[in-house]
Amino acid sequence: MTSTLISGISELWTLDPALDDPARPGGAADEQVRRDAALVIEDGRIAWTGPAAEAPAADETVDVGGRAVLPGWVDSHSHLVFDGDRAAEFEARMAGRSYSAGGIGVTTDATRSASDEHLCELVLGRIAEAVAGGTTTLETKTGYGLTVEHELQAAQLLSALIADGELDEATFLGAHLVPREYDGQDGRPGADDYVDLVSGEMLAAVAPHVRWIDVFCEGGAFDPEQSERVLRAGAAAGLGLRVHGNQLGRSGGVALAAELGAASVDHVNHLDASDVEALAATASRDTAPGDRPGRLAVDAGPTVATVLPACDLSTRAPLAPARDLLDAGAAVAIASNCNPGTSFTSAMSFCVTTAVLQMHLSLAEAIRAATRGGALALRRTDVGHLGIGARADLHVLDAPAAIHLAYRPGMPLTHRVWRRGVEQPPTVSD
Ligand code: NIG
Repeated sequence: MTSTLISGISELWTLDPALDDPARPGGAADEQVRRDAALVIEDGRIAWTGPAAEAPAADETVDVGGRAVLPGWVDSHSHLVFDGDRAAEFEARMAGRSYSAGGIGVTTDATRSASDEHLCELVLGRIAEAVAGGTTTLETKTGYGLTVEHELQAAQLLSALIADGELDEATFLGAHLVPREYDGQDGRPGADDYVDLVSGEMLAAVAPHVRWIDVFCEGGAFDPEQSERVLRAGAAAGLGLRVHGNQLGRSGGVALAAELGAASVDHVNHLDASDVEALAATASRDTAPGDRPGRLAVDAGPTVATVLPACDLSTRAPLAPARDLLDAGAAVAIASNCNPGTSFTSAMSFCVTTAVLQMHLSLAEAIRAATRGGALALRRTDVGHLGIGARADLHVLDAPAAIHLAYRPGMPLTHRVWRRGVEQPPTVSD
C-alpha cells in the first residue's frame, strides 16, 4: 500500500464532520480550514491531516506549492445522458423567449436515435470535463429516453459507469416529460397512462440499475398527484427520492418532497415562506426511520434544497433564495444541473462563484453547499470532506486561498485534481 504526502498546502479545507460547529451550521469552523497544512493519502483514503511541520513520512511526496486544497466538488444533479444540443433554443431564450419543459422532447428525439457506444462516449467526455473542473463525485440521471427500452439503455450505461468508478450515483427520471406518443389525441394514450408505465413496467426494468428516482413536478411536466404516484412506486421498489420542484412556479414539488421525505428537492426558484419553513423543518429530521406516521421507508435525514445557479442564469429565472433557506436553517446544496436545455455546463466552480456573488452566500457556505451539501443530498458520508477515512478527492486551486474563487471570477483556478487517491488528467483529452 503506497502512501502519498501532499505538502505545501496554504489552506486546507477539511470540512471534517467530526469538527462541525453547531453555531455555524452552514459554514466552516476555524478548525475545518487549516493554514500551512499537509495531508496523507493511503489506499485511496485520507489517512492524516495536520500542520505541515508535523507531517509524517510517506512513500512519495507531492508539493502543491502554497496552494489551497478543497474536497472535490460533489455535483448531486446532472443529466449527462443525451445526444445533440439546444443552442438555438438557448439563443431564442436570450432574445426573450421563456423556458418550457417541452424542449426536453427535442433532446429525447436525438437521444433515442443514438447508439450505446456513442452515448457512452458522450457521457465519458462530459464526466472528463466535470472532473477537470474539480468535480470528483457525480450523480446523473436517465430522462431523455422515455420508453422502457431507452430508459433501460440509459440506466444500464450509468450502472456500468459506476462499476468502472467513472460515476458515483444514478437516478431514474422516466418522469421527466410526458412523451408526445402519450398526448391523449386521436386515440393515443394520455399522461396518466404514461405515469402508469413509469411507475410500473419502466420502473421494474430500471430499478435494479439505479439508487434514486426523480420526477419533474412542474406545469407542462407532472402535477403533484402524478409525481406522488411515481415517487411512491419508486420508494416501494427501494429507491431513494429526489424531486425537481418549484423551478417555473410554485409547482407543489417542494411541499411534496418535504412531505414524502425526499433526500433532495432541486431548483427551488419559486418559494414562499411556507415552502422555506417546510424545508427548514426537515433539517432536524433525524436519520432514524419511523418518527412520523406515513413516512416512507427510505425517508431518512433532511430534504436538501439543491440550488442550481448556472441553470438560473441560463434560463433567466429568479435566483433560488439560497440565503433565505440557509437563514431559516434548511440544508442547502449547490449542483451544476449539466444538461442541454437549461444549463450546459458542469463547472461547479462557476456555480460556487455565482452563489457567493449573486446569491449572497459566504465563501464557506458556498464551498460547503457544493461539497458536504451535495454529499448530504446523495446521503453519502464518504465524500464532500477530507476527514480521516474520507475518499481522497482533492481539488487543488491555482490560488493561495479559496476566496480567489469569487475574487477572480471565471479564471481557470483548478490546478490539480485527485479522485479516489489517483491524480486525474489536467485537461480533457480528444
Ligand atoms: O433540471 N427541469 C427539468 N429538467 C432539466 C432540464 C431539461 C431540459 O430542458 O432538457 C433541468 O433543468
